[in-house]
Amino acid sequence: MKIFVAKDYQEMSKKAAGIVASQVILKNSAVLGLATGSTPEGMYRRLVEMGREGAVDFRGVTTFNLDEYLGLDPGHPQSYHHYMYRHLFDHINADPAKIHIPAGNARDMASYCREYDEKIAAAGGIDLQVLGIGGNGHIGFNEPGEYLKTGTHVVDLTEETVEANSRFFASREEVPRQAVTMGMGSIMKAGRILLLASGKGKARAIKDAVSGRVTTRIPASFLQLHRDVVLILDEEAAALL
Ligand code: F6R
Repeated sequence: MKIFVAKDYQEMSKKAAGIVASQVILKNSAVLGLATGSTPEGMYRRLVEMGREGAVDFRGVTTFNLDEYLGLDPGHPQSYHHYMYRHLFDHINADPAKIHIPAGNARDMASYCREYDEKIAAAGGIDLQVLGIGGNGHIGFNEPGEYLKTGTHVVDLTEETVEANSRFFASREEVPRQAVTMGMGSIMKAGRILLLASGKGKARAIKDAVSGRVTTRIPASFLQLHRDVVLILDEEAAALL
């Protein structure tokens, strides 16, 4: 595990964008796993700038997003589908046919999840997976529990996650209680993993994630078993290391 401590959010975002851009420059047909949330917004802003400057060409890239709320239409302003277009895809030259974001409104979720995993496999697997981390140690929406699932699946969000994500909705009641997420197997199969964390609310989860212990109570702790993980933290998120 490589850990970089950036002085602030800005520097974290810049470093992260640099790593994603290098991946795309080195392999034009790279397969990227992407996350949503507040943490990667700055990284996406920088990638958009790099695209505009002509420093990166996204045409050959295939993307798979980690997760989506269950029951939200892609056009819903709080859907992760909407987020990805607003922050990235509307502003770069990626091929829409190569963009994959889990649908939270598929009729048959079980088959849909299976097909999502098959598409990742058919694309050759993920070269670089970008992750944020929940204050409770979740990655994607793999929540702490007795066991973790390997493939894409529907998950009940914990109260802590519903609470954390309520800041994006008009009220807590509007936050979906379920989501569809890539499983731990899909994440762990990625060639390289880039996890970003910013702010003191993530310090505990980061400490537990790199503690030397692996537990389903802290899903991010499994990343210690992967051989190519890069953590980019700001000073607050790294405060307990
Ligand atoms: C989002 C995702 C989540 C977030 C995590 C942190 O696609 O997979 O695991 O990365 O909940 O969210 P923020 O960045 O909003 O603190």
